[in-house]
Amino acid sequence: MGLFKKKIINHIRNKIPRLAEHFGYVTVSPICLKNDKDNKAYPSHIVPAQEYKDFVKVYKTQKQYRSKPDFVRIFFLHERSKYIIENNIQGDFAELGVYRGHTAKVLLDSCGSRTLRLFDTFQGHPDNACADQDGELYVDHIKQKTLSDTSEAEVKNLLGHANNLVIHKGFFPESAADCNNLQFAFVHLDADQYESTLEGFRFFYPRLSPGGVIICHDYGRYQGVRKAVNEFRKLSYEHPILIPDSTGSIMFVKSF
Ligand SMILES: C[S@@+](CC[C@H](N)C(=O)[O-])C[C@H]1O[C@@H](n2cnc3c(N)ncnc32)[C@H](O)[C@@H]1O
Repeated sequence: MGLFKKKIINHIRNKIPRLAEHFGYVTVSPICLKNDKDNKAYPSHIVPAQEYKDFVKVYKTQKQYRSKPDFVRIFFLHERSKYIIENNIQGDFAELGVYRGHTAKVLLDSCGSRTLRLFDTFQGHPDNACADQDGELYVDHIKQKTLSDTSEAEVKNLLGHANNLVIHKGFFPESAADCNNLQFAFVHLDADQYESTLEGFRFFYPRLSPGGVIICHDYGRYQGVRKAVNEFRKLSYEHPILIPDSTGSIMFVKSF
């Protein structure tokens, strides 16, 4: 591309946020900046500022943790949470797979005064994690040191020691032994592996209120997660909704 053409394109891109604002919208993800090669892969997202002002706040908070948060993923987590609150769908919020608490923060910022239950070892993946994948998770483990660089205290700090937070530290599903009689409205499964994901569906689905939601991350990324989701689908009648976020989440809304 010629230098002149590049300059014109960059000039127009830089005007987008102000133009959007003029019409009552706000841009929330990176506008491709001059000479910023990495950003070019990420289109900018424009949402109506007033209507989505809560979401914009949640998204901007996430930018403190990651330079490019997954817009679509956060949008679905937040919007579904809001829907559940607004439609009075009863039950707690839960996340299986918390790590350092970044998506837990999205849930906390979206769940109002509902109880948010967080399930993790806070010491990294259980030992069986590496066995059930096509090498993908194993490679990630080596890169990320098995996700053990976290702690319950770190997550509590990030979430501001909120009163509605309950931490279930330990191996799931044993760590949910005291939750047998609970009802859930929103569940986020992000455990990366087959066993944990399937156990997540087995435990939460029967306790999910009608209209309640399970969003499972990484359906498009890890073989083990895909396998667990497909096994769950044989046991339930729910039609899944695919979410086109960066690793392909999948959502189930309990119909009865
Ligand atoms: C990808 S991380 C979660 C990331 C987090 N949801 C986020 O996006 O900020 C996956 C987590 O699942 C946890 N995990 C997986 N299986 C588990 C099990 N059976 N019991 C407890 N924790 C588990 C691991 O310890 C790890 O912290």
